[in-house]
Amino acid sequence: AKITYVDNDGTERVVEATNGESVMEAAVKNGIPGIDADCGGACACATCHVYVDKAFMDKVGEQQEMEKSMLDFAENVQENSRLSCQITVSDALDGLRVTTPESQH
Ligand code: FES
Repeated sequence: AKITYVDNDGTERVVEATNGESVMEAAVKNGIPGIDADCGGACACATCHVYVDKAFMDKVGEQQEMEKSMLDFAENVQENSRLSCQITVSDALDGLRVTTPESQH
């Protein structure tokens, strides 16, 4: 699935992500700035915080409890905030756009 990562200054980077990996893993593999993923995907750091394109909010799935409580530690949380390590890439997410928060740049 193609995923577009948008910087806080509007720079777009398109990545071809593999089904089954997380949106965070696809970003790290491709050197996307703004997604540090300090904990390596364990839902324990909140440095993989992204804003999900509103059109995809129903496709990325529900937040689990652990993600909800970790997002409390993220800065500038919005209603479309998610931890990208908790979103699994699938064909349904083709064309997904996520924006990285300014605080992670
Ligand atoms: Fe640490 Fe997602 S990589 S919470």
